[in-house]
Amino acid sequence: MRDFGYDITDHCAVDPSFGTMDDFDALVAAAHGHGIKVVLDFVPNHTSDLHPWFQESRASRESPKRDWYLWRDGNPPNNWVSVFGGRAWEWDEATGQSYYHAYLPEQPDLNWRNPDVREAMLGVLRFWKARGVDGFRVDAMRQVLKDLELRDNPAAPGWDGPADVYASLIPKFTTDLDEVQEVVAAIRSEIGDEHLFMAEVTAPVDRLVRYYGSSGEGAHLPFNFHLIWVDWTPAAIAELVERYEAALPDGAWPNWVLGNHDQSRVASRVGPGQARVAAMLLLTLRGTPTLYYGDELGIVDVDVPPSRVVDPDGRDPERSPMPWTSAPGRGFCADGVEPWLPFGDGSMSVEAQEADPRSMLALHRRLLALRRASDDLAEGDYETVAVSPAVLAYRRGSGTVVALNLSDEPASVALSGEVLLTTELDGREGERVSGSLALRPGEGAILAEGPRAVESSGSG
Ligand code: GLC
Repeated sequence: MRDFGYDITDHCAVDPSFGTMDDFDALVAAAHGHGIKVVLDFVPNHTSDLHPWFQESRASRESPKRDWYLWRDGNPPNNWVSVFGGRAWEWDEATGQSYYHAYLPEQPDLNWRNPDVREAMLGVLRFWKARGVDGFRVDAMRQVLKDLELRDNPAAPGWDGPADVYASLIPKFTTDLDEVQEVVAAIRSEIGDEHLFMAEVTAPVDRLVRYYGSSGEGAHLPFNFHLIWVDWTPAAIAELVERYEAALPDGAWPNWVLGNHDQSRVASRVGPGQARVAAMLLLTLRGTPTLYYGDELGIVDVDVPPSRVVDPDGRDPERSPMPWTSAPGRGFCADGVEPWLPFGDGSMSVEAQEADPRSMLALHRRLLALRRASDDLAEGDYETVAVSPAVLAYRRGSGTVVALNLSDEPASVALSGEVLLTTELDGREGERVSGSLALRPGEGAILAEGPRAVESSGSG
């Protein structure tokens, strides 16, 4: 494996290093038994170079599968650069052409303009639906079509680094073409309404929201990664939330992502002192939150010595295994087994945090419980209430206010109401605030403003 499952040799099988199809069926059944849905990662853009389709495609220019991938004359045919750096074209000496790969050379891109490719790939969705999954996270959605004329991508203004790094060019002719929406619609019509369609889309807000489709024929949830990139200040976050809310098409349900397997861990990005307010922000904004495993414990990026590096794109630090216990193997693997990446801080584990009513894990559980019990937090509209250099405050619904101190100094904000929860979990619940709410460094609080909010979070 070169990209840990994103280099696929058979879309309808389980890699032996992960188990068998029987294991998969057992996993789905067990998850369903606990009321947990299973969403599969569907990778439409590329396969492994070891996939039989690509093997056949590269065999000769006359191969019936030649057009399943993007073969062109020239070495390279144009200036396109791979997401992982270096040329996006790999020269094939034997057949005298280059093939395109948005990612690694071992991940050749499929040609989604070929109807046979479409049919084969949509068949993969049918296969897994029949196997009982509840939905799909569709990988690299914006990459699936590239400019037919192979026009050079324009230089990124101000770039002064190496020419072959992805950020050196604007990926205008390789990503987010308008026609990608036709592929999104084809995938949606295959997935249907009973299964979830999440799409990985790296795009500015105005382009991102197009992936909902203009009248419900797009993704249910095009991942909104902007919290990962936003400046960690009240003004920048308020501006982002308002801009995103305003851009959503009618009927579109919002979503927010705070971390994933491609990004530095949230507790490393914003600092451990801000990890709790980050959690409160994620779980109180309007829409479906995406929480990356381990972030509910406050795990930071793990040091990976050069001898243990496995990812070609430097993402190992955020991919350390889940520390379930503090025992050797951390409840993740047997004692004596070396996991694929090192564990981090030995004192941090699910077991330890379950025993601590003030832990990050406890905070996540309290936030989720409150969110479930409160109509305001579950479905209420968003409205910015206050933005100062330190504090962001917003109202959800008719009477629930969230106030977050994004600084490492004490701060206050003009609010009144009753404290429902604070990030410190040290007994402020029930505190009555009139006129001014004091927040400690990195503290966040949720307040019920009036009788209506108390009613809605209490008796529903
Ligand atoms: C997506 C995945 C990333 C992977 C890439 C290529 O961006 O999130 O992990 O490397 O696609 O499949």
